[in-house]
Amino acid sequence: MFRVLASWRFSLALGFSLVLAYLANAFPADANPDWQIPNPAWLKSHASQKPMVFINRSQHKAEWEKLPSFWNESKETIKSALTGEMQEVAVVKIKLPMGITQNPPIPLENAPTVAKWKLGKKIYFDPILSSDGTVSCSSCHHPAKGFTDQSRFSTGIKGNVGGMNAPTVYNSAFNLSHFWDGRAISLEDQSQGPPQNPLEMFDGKGAPWHKAVERMNARPDYVEEFRAVFGTLPNRDGAAKAMATYERTVVTGNSIHDRAETAMRKRVEEAETGKLEVNNKDYEKVLQEAAAAKDVNALEALKLKNPSQAEIAEAAKGINQGRALFFGKARCNGCHVGDSLTDSQFHNLGVGVKNGELPKDALGRYGAQPTGHKNPEHLGAFKTPPLRQLLHTAPYMHDGSEDTLEKVVEFYDKGGNANPFLDTRMRDFTAEKGNGKVIPLALKLTIEEKASLVIFMRALNGEPADPIVTVLPGRGK
Ligand code: HEC
Ligand code: HEC
Repeated sequence: MFRVLASWRFSLALGFSLVLAYLANAFPADANPDWQIPNPAWLKSHASQKPMVFINRSQHKAEWEKLPSFWNESKETIKSALTGEMQEVAVVKIKLPMGITQNPPIPLENAPTVAKWKLGKKIYFDPILSSDGTVSCSSCHHPAKGFTDQSRFSTGIKGNVGGMNAPTVYNSAFNLSHFWDGRAISLEDQSQGPPQNPLEMFDGKGAPWHKAVERMNARPDYVEEFRAVFGTLPNRDGAAKAMATYERTVVTGNSIHDRAETAMRKRVEEAETGKLEVNNKDYEKVLQEAAAAKDVNALEALKLKNPSQAEIAEAAKGINQGRALFFGKARCNGCHVGDSLTDSQFHNLGVGVKNGELPKDALGRYGAQPTGHKNPEHLGAFKTPPLRQLLHTAPYMHDGSEDTLEKVVEFYDKGGNANPFLDTRMRDFTAEKGNGKVIPLALKLTIEEKASLVIFMRALNGEPADPIVTVLPGRGK
């Protein structure tokens, strides 16, 4: 009996490995791992892949208000390109959270569909892109950790440790460039980096993407999905497009500050008069609503639990004071502006500077600029990060050198670190006059002012991504 079972298992295993060997060889030796010309017979039509549409509150208010959830299975009537007739097409409408006033920029050649999004989500969480099958994108950008790894430096393949802090994928869809030095121009461009980085996913043997593409071609599920979505075998072009499509749904918003901003606009609209500026009462109103709705995420961000009216009033006052400082005396809005509180530009704050010297390996944006385009103003300058998930993404700065928001505020209070290339917005030109030295502009904030800046940043903390984005089918969180 045992022997029969053993041989049955043996032949199953043999059969299985033969199938695998066949499939492994199925990726033709002359096929280009980077891209191939699509085969129309494989490709499913755009309509049948189910197009995805983003809906934001500012541009489509009436429709936005009607949508019940983040992910809405819906119908749209469009003109057929072939027959000119009107036809009904199934689409998914993505309701962008409150506070996001624009749709993410999307390259024309990568129109989002649900089939592509599903494929991208699968690749994002699958260690298949790493040489030894141990590291996935989610290893360093995990949903449970605010889409970061919550460590100073990231650990990649074989325990290798890098020298940069992993930024969050949250709202990276809205960044105009990617990486701390902006060397990638799109998410499609960015996602091709890690699989060839020896500190992240690549063991240095052979051509990195070639091997990764071979591994995907050995998996029947990937072969089937790539053929349907792109009309090609699994390749680098498609993998990059699919991952970028998934990342565009990793969004956060609807923070207490977003809600107060919306309440303020409504108040001014109804009164038909007044300044377009949030005040104490706006924060109080939305905090009361959050308390009534038992919105634990929003309340906990402000360290509130079943708050009394007095506690709500106190918190509202602190947030509003912090807001006024952020957009005023502390001049944080010189760089942190817009929906995600970033100008997507590069600034030298002197992070990592010792004794007035920039570290030799931290050229920042300057290092990434092509020859013929080097701008000395960008020496040691890094990209302004968004400020929307700070409670889940510590430590902070490109080198993870500040572990709390309190310490970040202390850093700005002294004006950053003096160095010859310190951003002009950080310099005290009055004090500098005539002495030829770079002097950082100290903010001279009081203890109370520092605390309120921190509480304002806590009020910027948005809601986590919808479970459809973070939960893997059949695997839970
Ligand atoms: C070993 C850890 C690690 C892995 C694995 C990893 N990343 Fe990253 N990621 C980082 C670090 C560190 C940076 C910043 C590096 C830099 O700026 O030079 C980064 C930067 C990014 C950014 C830039 C955000 C912005 O707008 O600046 C995105 C997006 C991103 N990663 C997505 C991905 C995707 C997609 C994958 C999988 C293909 C991936 N990462 C794999 C650590 C990792
Ligand atoms: C001159 C532009 C500029 C100004 C002004 C500025 N920031 Fe920044 N901020 C940046 C840049 C650039 C970084 C990243 C710097 C680095 O890592 O080298 C950053 C990083 C941060 C971070 C860390 C975020 C993370 O995810 O790592 C926080 C928090 C922050 N700033 C808050 C503030 C506050 C609060 C103020 C006002 C007191 C302020 N910033 C003023 C440009 C600026």
